[in-house]
Amino acid sequence: MDFPPYPSGLRLAGRRVVVVGGGHVAQRRIPALIAAGADVEVVSPEVTPAIEGLLGSGEIRWTARGFTAADLDGAWYVVCATSDAAVNEAVSVAADERRVFCVRSDDALAATAWTPAVGRHGDVTVAVLGNRDPRRSAELRDGIVAELREGSLVARQHRDRVAGVTLVGGGPGDPELVSVAGRKALMDADVVVADRLAPRELLSDLPADVELIDVAKLPRGRSAQQEEINRVIVEQALAGRSVVRFKGGDNFVFGRGYEEVLACRAAGVPVTVIPGLTSPVAVPGIAGIPVTHRGVAHEFTVISGHLPPGHPESLTSWPAVAGLAGTVVLMMAVENAPAIATALLDGGRPADTPVAVVCDGTMPTERTVLATLGTLGARLAEEAVKPPAIIVVGEVVRVAHPEAF
Ligand SMILES: C[S@@+](CC[C@H](N)C(=O)[O-])C[C@H]1O[C@@H](n2cnc3c(N)ncnc32)[C@H](O)[C@@H]1O
Repeated sequence: MDFPPYPSGLRLAGRRVVVVGGGHVAQRRIPALIAAGADVEVVSPEVTPAIEGLLGSGEIRWTARGFTAADLDGAWYVVCATSDAAVNEAVSVAADERRVFCVRSDDALAATAWTPAVGRHGDVTVAVLGNRDPRRSAELRDGIVAELREGSLVARQHRDRVAGVTLVGGGPGDPELVSVAGRKALMDADVVVADRLAPRELLSDLPADVELIDVAKLPRGRSAQQEEINRVIVEQALAGRSVVRFKGGDNFVFGRGYEEVLACRAAGVPVTVIPGLTSPVAVPGIAGIPVTHRGVAHEFTVISGHLPPGHPESLTSWPAVAGLAGTVVLMMAVENAPAIATALLDGGRPADTPVAVVCDGTMPTERTVLATLGTLGARLAEEAVKPPAIIVVGEVVRVAHPEAF
């Protein structure tokens, strides 16, 4: 009778595992053994260059000769991966004698253990045994891991769920552009505190019992609202809940994220940070404009344009920026763009410097308005550009749009 395998998760850390064979099959098996912390010894007259690389970094040992039964003394697990049937048979016999489980790459029925298709998502390991059909196992594994990543299969953590705050950067808007870690944190949260610019479609995927606090509904006024956000996230965490502070882009790029970190620290609340794709890089990127290009721009400078040049509270030296040759990326600058263009021209940037204004980046309404420093103010008015927009100034725009310049 063909009994099904009995699944078990082997904890191999520090335990001797022998891999017989040094070819491509062995090469594929070894990384997972190293990742499990096993004490791996390869027995084979020859090994592939990739296995040799692992020797160099001291992650495995190599006995450079043919197999002898004594190689399995003291082993907990054997991976038999040679192309020689007689050697494989000898390994099986020696393993049986020592009561050591043995995987066979050539003959699953002669093996005493099977390697499942393995995938990981966070701290969950998915292992699939598809009755000796490795492709089917791999497909199932991929499907399960993909659903865990997307959040359509939710494995919420019920044990060790830590009270605290996680700052999650949601990326520029398209829900596909949040990180895997960010998505997982959202799905695992008790409370999500979200901003107007945070990718809203992701919020509709949240499990029904996750409380959503919409910051846009908190009291207005820049400081009052931030103080209220700090108060809410600290209060929720102190009540023992796992809080995600969810914002557009990256929380530390004009996102006031560090004020939240300081507020949490002051209250003794643990904080973790999951960075996001920040709009000054991601939005031009999606619109086909690189912020650097070899031989064209050796730096890119990201500046908030919420204050005009010359404003007493401005921290930007516009003459210094004008003196740079590379790319300038302006955020929150739609209103002050004409004044900023003037400051850059006054500082010596040529009037024909190409400019691209990318509005609603990664959203269905995304569009790019092209201009030069000389025409920027007029073009913004003509095209009735509204925030959010990223304004890219510099020769990289010409590289991306040679037809226009
Ligand atoms: C308060 S800042 C927040 C930036 C965000 N933390 C980040 O890392 O991208 C808001 C500004 O980011 C820019 N921005 C954010 N998302 C954008 C998008 N999808 N398209 C265009 N600009 C965007 C705009 O310049 C907007 O005025």
